[in-house]
Amino acid sequence: MTVTAPIVVHGLNHAFGKGALRKQILFDIGTEIPQAEIVIVTGPSGSGKTTLLTLVGALRSTQEGSVQVLGQELCGAKPAILEKVRKQIGFIFQQHNLLNALTALQNVELGARVRGKFRHSEITERARQILQAVDLGERMNHHPEQLSGGQRQRVAIARALVGEPAMLLADEPTASLDKQSGREVVERMQSLAREHGTTILLLPMTTAFWTLPTASFTSKMDVFQRSQIQ
Ligand SMILES: Nc1ncnc2c1ncn2[C@@H]1O[C@H](COP(=O)(O)OP(=O)(O)O)[C@@H](O)[C@H]1O
Ligand SMILES: [Mg+2]
Repeated sequence: MTVTAPIVVHGLNHAFGKGALRKQILFDIGTEIPQAEIVIVTGPSGSGKTTLLTLVGALRSTQEGSVQVLGQELCGAKPAILEKVRKQIGFIFQQHNLLNALTALQNVELGARVRGKFRHSEITERARQILQAVDLGERMNHHPEQLSGGQRQRVAIARALVGEPAMLLADEPTASLDKQSGREVVERMQSLAREHGTTILLLPMTTAFWTLPTASFTSKMDVFQRSQIQ
């Protein structure tokens, strides 16, 4: 059996809008990302980084080209396939997207529950442990509006990691964190990639990332070189 890379993209084009308003954002993107790699996608604001992340994450439909994620072709895929792929991915967005009606603990539990692979009794324990690991042990029963921006983002990170996803897609995850917390987040992602073979696609923003030696990342690329030219 040949092992396919968890992310294989070929000839990916993407446009927003129709008719005269149509604007192409991604031009013939191609890349292959091996398992357990941390790949940083760089490119200026508006170059389509977030768009690419949502395509790889099966959060929007691929229009043209091939996007294979965790062994599934997403272009033309049925909703059930997209959902199956999404379930194996942990997402961290710039806006934390926590549910305000739930406590920090409940938000993180939800992250483990959607993965559908843990016993009910196991879920709370895992959620507690990971919240302690991101230094929120004392804040578990707080609601998002009772937390600071940095604390909320740490809850979002805990929620993405709690299910030990096969893949982590992070869109500017440290944007609301100070340098030290941002660094801790990146280090946590690195250890996840090492220990669990998690593939990580990261869109950086703050300088927090660059305080780490570049060599500690297995790979660094700019998949947008091509689209910037056009
Ligand atoms: N849902 C959308 N509808 C129309 N245009 C969009 C939409 N999402 C993004 N865009 C446009 O696509 C371009 C790329 O956006 P984005 O992927 O967010 O870039 P980046 O993350 O690199 O800053 C921008 O010009 C943005 O305005
Ligand atoms: Mg973006």
